[in-house]
Amino acid sequence: MRHLMSPLDFTVDELEELFKLANDIEANHEKYSEKCHGKKLATCFYEPSTRTRLSFESAMINLGGSVIGFSDANSSSAAKGESVSDTIRVISCFADICAMRHPKEGAPMVAASKSSIPVINAGDGGHQHPTQTLTDLLTIRSLRGNIKDFTIGLCGDLKFGRTVHSLINALMRYPGIKFIFISPPELKVPDYITSALEEKGIEYKEVISLDEVMSELDFLYMTRVQRERFFNEEDYVRLKDFYILNKDKMAIAKDDMLVLHPLPRVNEISVDVDDDPRAAYFKQVQYGVYVRMALILTLLELV
Ligand code: CP
Repeated sequence: MRHLMSPLDFTVDELEELFKLANDIEANHEKYSEKCHGKKLATCFYEPSTRTRLSFESAMINLGGSVIGFSDANSSSAAKGESVSDTIRVISCFADICAMRHPKEGAPMVAASKSSIPVINAGDGGHQHPTQTLTDLLTIRSLRGNIKDFTIGLCGDLKFGRTVHSLINALMRYPGIKFIFISPPELKVPDYITSALEEKGIEYKEVISLDEVMSELDFLYMTRVQRERFFNEEDYVRLKDFYILNKDKMAIAKDDMLVLHPLPRVNEISVDVDDDPRAAYFKQVQYGVYVRMALILTLLELV
């Protein structure tokens, strides 16, 4: 039995198989519509979510399966003090696979260690968000044709943004990727990530100004400042509008640069960018359903 805690749990070759399956699902929806008939997905979300939870649920329904779960810790027995270890033992009696989001780093890993069904980390604190990374990689691969030889700018909250940490870890395994980290000094990417890049001899630079590097980018990965992970509101208010991507900034970007964002957005991408053909963040959401369908099939060994 396999779980998914980090995008690195799959080799690059295994990811390639997963992405091919996701693309086949996209092209041949009907072929997969009963693959999970009789199977149940449990979504155990101890933190708010729109995309991840609903795209998991949509993925399972598209596969002919059904869904149970909770979307708020306070409506589960966690509010009475139940541990994730006990909860997953209980969920294992009800469902065939579980997607879990938790504010504490490592909680889905603890659940996986006690589970008799596959557990998928759907985001743990500021740590990892592997299925967002699968979504991001599938989007890049589908829109560009491959995952190699490009410059990606990651902009915004690089300290607390778990999608950023997961994506950098995953992209480090592909050839010819250059990273540009764009953040205020307070929200810099953690040292363990830059150390890993240095150890592997991967090119990166850290800058404060988005305008300064805009014309170099093939992908711009915008992120929201993670209000829920700040220790004080004053710092959040000072930093929340540090970057706002607007039409003027898009005018200095390459004609084929693509803008990605894990969403939700707050103010960091102006809505007038949405009509730009280079804005790929809503397509990204659709790829998230295909890749989660492929992941459920793979972890349930139904391919
Ligand atoms: N991208 C993402 O994780 O969105 P949600 O928080 O809405 O699930």
